[in-house]
Amino acid sequence: MAMAPRCTGVVASSVPCPAVDRMASSLTVPRALGSLQMSPSKLWISPRASGRLARVVMTTTLPMHDRDVGIGVQDKGLYVPQELHTQVTHSMPLEKIELFKSLESWAEDNILPYLKSVEKSWQPQEFLPEPSSDGFLDEVKELRARAAELPDDYLVCLVGDMITEEALPTYQTMLNTLDGVRDETGASLTSWARWTRAWTAEENRHGDLLNKYLYLTGRVDMRVIEKTIQYLIGSGMDPQTENNPYLGFIYTSFQERATFISHGNTARQAKDFGDVKLAQICGTIAADERRHENAYTKIVEKLFEIDPDCTVLALEDMMRKKISMPAHLMYDGRDKEIFEKFSLVAQRTGVYTARDYADILEHLIKRWNVDKLSGLSSRGQQAQDYVCGLANRIRKLEERASRVKKGPMLGTFSWIFNREVALR
Ligand SMILES: [Fe+2]
Ligand SMILES: [Fe+2]
Repeated sequence: MAMAPRCTGVVASSVPCPAVDRMASSLTVPRALGSLQMSPSKLWISPRASGRLARVVMTTTLPMHDRDVGIGVQDKGLYVPQELHTQVTHSMPLEKIELFKSLESWAEDNILPYLKSVEKSWQPQEFLPEPSSDGFLDEVKELRARAAELPDDYLVCLVGDMITEEALPTYQTMLNTLDGVRDETGASLTSWARWTRAWTAEENRHGDLLNKYLYLTGRVDMRVIEKTIQYLIGSGMDPQTENNPYLGFIYTSFQERATFISHGNTARQAKDFGDVKLAQICGTIAADERRHENAYTKIVEKLFEIDPDCTVLALEDMMRKKISMPAHLMYDGRDKEIFEKFSLVAQRTGVYTARDYADILEHLIKRWNVDKLSGLSSRGQQAQDYVCGLANRIRKLEERASRVKKGPMLGTFSWIFNREVALR
C-alpha cells in the first residue's frame, strides 16, 4: 500500500467568504478514516461561478489502494469502500434556494406529467411466472430453459445492473440532499418532493423485477448478490453534487440516459441470445429510464433558460469531476475490484462503454443547446467552450487508448459461482 498525498481541487485564492467557515465546520471525517489528516491550513477556497460559489478543498494523506477512486476501510471489522475526495457541502448560494421554490408550480405543470399513475404502471409480476397458478412450475422451467442460453459475461452485466438498481435507497437519499428541492418531511406536498417519491416508487420496480428474474434462472449466486446489495447500500455513493440541485439534476440527467442505454443494450442482447421475455423486461425498464431522462433534462433545460451562467458552470464542474457511476462503491465481501471488473465486462460486451459516456455528453449538449448560449460571462464562455469540445476529446483519448495493445485478461465473479469471464 502506497501513501500518497491527494488533492481534489485547485487552489485559487483565499477570498473571504463567511459561507466557507460554515462549510468547513460541516466537513465531517468518517470515524473510520482514522489516518485522515486535516487542518485549517489544508482547507482552501476556490471561488467559482464568478465568485458566487465557493468550495472547500482539502488535501489528505491516505493509504491508497491500487484502485484509484476508493479505499477499503476496516471499522470494527466492517469493510466499507470509501471515496477519497473531499465531501463538499452546500455550494449553492442561499438566494438560489428561492429560485427552486419559485419553480414549484412550473415543476407541477412540466415535470410531474412525466410520471405514470400507479394504475397505468406495469408491475414486475406481469413479467414473471404467476405463483398462484397451477402452471407456475412449468413457467419457471421454461424461464430456466431460456436463461440457460445466456452467456456468463451477459449474466455479469445483468447482475451488475440489477445490483445498481437495488441500491435505490441511496439514490433517493441523494435527491433529498439537494437544497431547495428536498422532501423536507418525508411526505411533503411540494412538487419537487412528490416527484422524488413517485420517481423512487417507479424505479423500485426495476431492481425488484431483475432480482426476481435472476433468482428464478438459477444461474447466479443469489446470496453473494444479496450481500453485494447490502454492502452497496451501506456504502452509499458520492456523486459530488454538493447539495446543489444544479449539479444534482445534471448528474441525474446523465445517469438516467446511461441506464437507458445500458438496459437497452441488455434488451437487444437478450433477444440475440433467444430470451425474448428477458428482452421485454430490459426494454420495459429502459423505456422508464428514457422517460425519467426526459424529466430531468427538462429541469436542466429550464435552468439554462433562467440562469444560463450558473448552469453552464455547473455542467463544466460536473464534467471536470467526471460523472461517477452510482454503484462505484460496489463490493461483494471478497473482491475489492468487483466494480472495475464489472465495468470492463460491460465495456467489452458493449453494454455500457466509454464511447457511450462521450455520446451521452454530446446528446445533452445538443439537448440543452449549450453551444448556442449567448450573453454568458467570460467565465461562462470558458465553461461553454470546455463542455462543447469535451466529447470529441474523450473520443480521441479513447481511440488512442484502444490502439494500445493489451493482452487478454480473465477474471472470476462471485456472482456466477466464481466462473471465469473475459474482462478484455
Ligand atoms: Fe432504474
Ligand atoms: Fe433511472
